[in-house]
Amino acid sequence: MHEHTNLPTPATSSHHADTSCASVLDVEDLTVSIGGRMLLQGVTFALQPGQLCGLIGENGAGKTTLLRSLIGVQPSPHGQVSISGLSPRKSRDLVGYVPQKINFSPDLPLRVYDLVQLGCDGHRLGPRWFSRRLHQQVMAALDAVGAQDFAYQRIGELSGGQQQRAVIAHALARRPRLLLLDEPLANLDFRSANELAGLLGHLTRVHGIAVLVTAHDMNPLLPVMDHIVYLAKGRAASGSVREVVQSATLSKLYGYPVAVIEHGGRVLVLPHADAKVGEDGCYLMPNGSTSGGQA
Ligand SMILES: Nc1ncnc2c1ncn2[C@@H]1O[C@H](COP(=O)(O)OP(=O)(O)OP(=O)(O)O)[C@@H](O)[C@H]1O
Ligand SMILES: [Mg+2]
Repeated sequence: MHEHTNLPTPATSSHHADTSCASVLDVEDLTVSIGGRMLLQGVTFALQPGQLCGLIGENGAGKTTLLRSLIGVQPSPHGQVSISGLSPRKSRDLVGYVPQKINFSPDLPLRVYDLVQLGCDGHRLGPRWFSRRLHQQVMAALDAVGAQDFAYQRIGELSGGQQQRAVIAHALARRPRLLLLDEPLANLDFRSANELAGLLGHLTRVHGIAVLVTAHDMNPLLPVMDHIVYLAKGRAASGSVREVVQSATLSKLYGYPVAVIEHGGRVLVLPHADAKVGEDGCYLMPNGSTSGGQA
């Protein structure tokens, strides 16, 4: 599948992206408010090429809002977002975005191939855009996500996992440097979620794309994720997976007891309904013992 991908090199924006810039994404002191309510405040983090970063936080923490502000559709009164040295408005060609909820009607006469073609950046090449090159670009994106087998099916007739691959191919078609994915693993079965996580790992390792992905169930991503940004009470903090994926940190973040365990050589994050979270973030086991277990 994606082991044979031949994605073209990432696009360079017509606005002269700064290729010497070490970070693909730089978020500096970002503030977002909607309807007079401050949702995010002082959000600061950076993403390097080839980094796969999880964006986590409870429902309503502001993950989708943050992603929307990174692509410039959610205004931010204060702070700065820079993508390869450019503003969100000038870096659209460098970013692939997959929104949280997309519903395709089975009646929609749109094939996967058509959707991916819509994501191509032919407009930048002007009227001399050559159709064979366009076809190659579409096929490379389909190949990258293992979607060739259903390329000519209507998107609304596909399973959730197949649709998810198709929309990621759409986002990849413009050969982004930065991929923003909002809950791409939601509604996927174990196999599909793990395969998609493996695919994201491949895109970062082999193609050097930086990926920022939101997820509530982070287990499929743990083997491939190297960094985590977490949102709580409008503020953001970030760290390596090893730093963040700890029972105490996650329990405090979600206000719900979360256990981090090791099983079969893998780290797993599990809700722990029987325990209670203490003030220090450690959870109290029903038998009175405490735990702050870590990865
Ligand atoms: N356009 C809007 N108008 C009013 N409130 C909004 C708007 N967009 C988001 N919000 C509010 O902002 C808060 C954060 O929403 P957001 O969708 O960013 O959360 P989230 O972290 O993505 O949550 P989830 O895990 O459920 O997807 C919520 O309280 C939401 O109601
Ligand atoms: Mg959301």
